[in-house]
Formats: sequence, structure tokens, C-alpha cells
Amino acid sequence: MIYGNQVENHYLLKAIETIKRQIIIISYDYKILASNCNPNKKYFLNKSSKEGEICYHALFNFDFPCKNCPATEVKKTGKPSLKRIFIDDQENECKENNFCACLYAYPMAANAGDMACDSDEAAIVVLDFDLPSLFKCDEKRVTSNSFLRNLINSAADGVIAADMTGKIIIFNKAATEISGYSRKEALEHLNIRDLYPQGDAYKIMKKMRSGDYGGNGLLKGHRQLSVRKDGSTTPIVLNASIVYEDDKEVASIGFFHDLREAKRLEAEIEKMQIQLLQAEKMSSLGKLAAGVAHQLNNPLGGITLFTQLMLEEYDLNSDAREDLLKIQRDAERCSAIVKELLEFARQTKREVKLQNINKIVGRTLFLLRNQAIFQNIQIIEKYDPNIPEIPVDMQQLNHVFMNIILNAADSMEGSGVLEIRTFLKGKNGISSDGVNILHDNDGMVHITIADTGPGIPAPILPNIFEPFFTTKEEGKGTGLGLSMAYGIVESHQGKLTAENRPERGAIFSISLPLKKENHQF
Ligand SMILES: Nc1ncnc2c1ncn2[C@@H]1O[C@H](COP(=O)(O)OP(=O)(O)O)[C@@H](O)[C@H]1O
Ligand SMILES: [Mg+2]
Repeated sequence: MIYGNQVENHYLLKAIETIKRQIIIISYDYKILASNCNPNKKYFLNKSSKEGEICYHALFNFDFPCKNCPATEVKKTGKPSLKRIFIDDQENECKENNFCACLYAYPMAANAGDMACDSDEAAIVVLDFDLPSLFKCDEKRVTSNSFLRNLINSAADGVIAADMTGKIIIFNKAATEISGYSRKEALEHLNIRDLYPQGDAYKIMKKMRSGDYGGNGLLKGHRQLSVRKDGSTTPIVLNASIVYEDDKEVASIGFFHDLREAKRLEAEIEKMQIQLLQAEKMSSLGKLAAGVAHQLNNPLGGITLFTQLMLEEYDLNSDAREDLLKIQRDAERCSAIVKELLEFARQTKREVKLQNINKIVGRTLFLLRNQAIFQNIQIIEKYDPNIPEIPVDMQQLNHVFMNIILNAADSMEGSGVLEIRTFLKGKNGISSDGVNILHDNDGMVHITIADTGPGIPAPILPNIFEPFFTTKEEGKGTGLGLSMAYGIVESHQGKLTAENRPERGAIFSISLPLKKENHQF
């Protein structure tokens, strides 16, 4: 038996000597306990290496254990480990000039097997695994994989692939934006069917298999809704295909082209067209109103005249006279409204004249205050009588005030307080040369129109003067009122601003220059 053992040992040692691999056995403190030396390998033990030397020094001339040492790993985990050692120990990279040794280490238990002897201690076996080519190949695979991953991830369209059970296997960045799911959520919990309205995933697969939609296993340019995480839907164009391996369906891949932006633009264009149409309608309505007012003028004149005649020429009882006087008063009121309407709607060239701003505001209010929408609105007017006449186009300012006042009434939804003020800033007085110019003011007339509505939401405050900006439902607002008002005030070298009042509601401030020389007409 002992003889047999010796033969066995002999053969085993021979086998180790001739093995293509180099083997060293080291202690847990990196001392070489045994080795089969092979002088041909530049990075491994050379002939002069002696048992008892420290392995990292003997092998690589390092002063410290290798950064990536498999033996250290074995010490830590007690499990076999395969690692690459880099000549340039600091760089964990397998470059041409950073040649790597591939070492496989595994633990050798103390007193293991029949060949145990007294000096046995726990040791680590380190094999030269000589696998740089394998690693390189792996490296290439990893780099090409990461290149493909980058390619897919940076695609503008959502790229989503699923296996035949519907489990998601690829989910790129654009897919997360379209669906609202994170990559992790999609890869771990999502089924491709969840991304479509119920039953659609099946229909899509059916279409792909039919070959009628762009080729066998293909679906091209298919308009589809995709269901987002929050349950809302995203319109997409889907290009999808089935992935085959040996004629067997193994996966499906879809390219989701987001249509939201395109749809938004389409809707915007459509909205603008409607608004333009509305603006056109409004302007023709204005002309129509002017025409109707003109036609009403004559009959109204007739009513007034004949009422007057009846009052003068007939001997009527007091009740009848009272009624006729009522008719006369109402007819006169109608005439006044018609006159204002005509003035307001008159399409004339810009006409700048010295005007009393209080009168212009009053005239706008005259037209508006009997409208139903102002029925429950208290109107407070605070006009500064010292304001001199200023050079303005009355009709245009009528438009400005009317737009702002109507907006205020809209915002209060028919009940609240509308306060209109006109004033000068600074000390009032008549100048020494007798001209109606005021000292110490800022050279402007100020008009404020305040309401007690909900105010203007902060996020839209910067947008309200933009043409076509409206928060009102279709048919109610054109979004042109404030932009027109802004343009008119600007052309008067004035300023139009809006802000919210601390107490409640919005306040619009208009300032207009006192002198004409500043105007740009
Ligand atoms: N007094 C106000 N209070 C609150 N919001 C206002 C007020 N005035 C204007 N706005 C906001 O500004 C928007 C634009 O006004 P405007 O240009 O006159 O267009 P429109 O009245 O047709 O909507 C309104 O839709 C509204 O959202
Ligand atoms: Mg408006």
C-alpha cells in the first residue's frame, strides 16, 4: 500500500511537472509553499524563485499583494476565484501594454486527503489559467454589448422588446418617457400587454403574424394608443417585428414613435385657425353693429319727434302724458346708446386729439353698465378732476378700457366690485405759464382697473398679453383683447401692466404720457 502510494505520488508529481499550467501553492500569508516552475513565462515564477518567497514579489515584483489577487478573494470568501492581474497594478484595464495574467485560485484544506503530512497547513492553490484571449473576447463582447445598449438607449423612439410571455427584456430611455414607467419597473414587473389598451397586444401580434402589414412578422406605421403608468394614453406610431430563432418565435420588438408633440402642434394650429375665424367674425360683427346702429338712428329720431309732437299738440290726460314722456325718455336713451355704439365701432384712421381721459372711461362704462353681466357688479369710479386733457385716440382707448373691464367682469362671474381710478402721481397744480401742466408728477396719467375676482394665476401672468392666449372656453375668449390693448397703449408711449392685488382680484394699470411729443403715431 505504501509502495503503491509512492508510485502514485511519483506519477502525480510528474504529471504536475509536465502540465501546461503552472501551479503554485501559497500559504494564507502569500508565502510560496510549492510550485512547478516554468521558466518560459515571463510573468510567472522564474527558476531562481525559491519556496518561502512572497508570491507577489516572486511573480510580479510587486511590493504589495496584487490589487486583483484571486488568492485574497479565496481568503475572504473561502471559494475559488478567477482573476486578471495587471502588470500596471494600478490600472484595472487589460490594454495591449498592460498585459494580464489570468490566475485561478482555490482553497486547499489542511489535512486534506490521504497524502496529508505533519507540516500540512491550510493553503491556496494558484493556477496559471492563461486565459487572456478568453478575457479579451469577453471584453469585446462586453464593449459591443455596451455599444448596442448605448445605441438603443439613445434612440429617439421608444424601443421595447419582450419575450414570448410578454416579459419586457429591453426598455430604453424614450420608452420610459412615453410610458411613465422606470426601466427597473418595466424590466421587473411589466408585461408588454400592460402597455396597450386591453386586447390590443393580441391584435398587434395577430397582424404581425398575418404578413399583411409590411411583411412576415412585421407591422409598419401602425397608429396605436399606448397606456401610460397613470392610466392615460399616449398616441404612437408603432413599427414592430417578431424576432425568430430557427423559425421559432422568441421575442417581439417595437419602436414606439411618440405622437404627442405632433398632435399638440396640430391642435395648436387648429385652435389658431378657429381663433382667427372668431376674430374675423368679431370684426365683421362690429361693422354690422355699426350698420344696424346707423339704421336705427332714423326710426329713433322719428319716435322722439312724433312723441314730442303728440305731447305738444294733443290735449292728453296726465296718465297718457306720463306714458308718452316715458317713451320719449327711453327713445332718447336708445339714441344715446346708438350714438356711442356708432362712435365706438367707427372704423376710422388713427385720430389723436386732446381728450379728457375721465370722459373716455365714463363713455366705455356708459356702454357696459347696463349689460346683464354687470347687473350684480358694484362699480366704483374715482376720477381725479385735475387731470388735464391728453393727446390720445379716443376710439382706441375705448377698446382698451372695454377689453379690460369685460375681462374683469368675466373673472368675477357677474358679482363683485369693479373699481376704476384715474390719477396723477405727485403734487398737483397749475404751472406758472398758466398751461394746464402739473408740477412734480411723473409726466403720466394713471388709470387703474381693479376687480374682486380670483386674480390671475401666477404661472400665466407672463402670458396674458400674448395674442391668442386665453383660459376661456372655446367661443368665449379669443385671447386677443389684452394683446390688442397692449399694442394700443404701447403706441401711445404708455404702459400697460397687470398684477394681483394683495387682498383679492387683479389690477390692470395703464399709464399714458401727458405730452404729445412722446407719441409715435
Ligand atoms: N381680470 C382678470 N382676472 C383674471 N384673469 C384675467 C383677467 N383679465 C385677463 N385675464 C386672463 O388673461 C387671459 C387673456 O385675456 P384676453 O387677452 O382679454 O383674452 P380673452 O378674454 O379672450 O381670454 C384671459 O383668458 C384670462 O385668463
Ligand atoms: Mg378679453
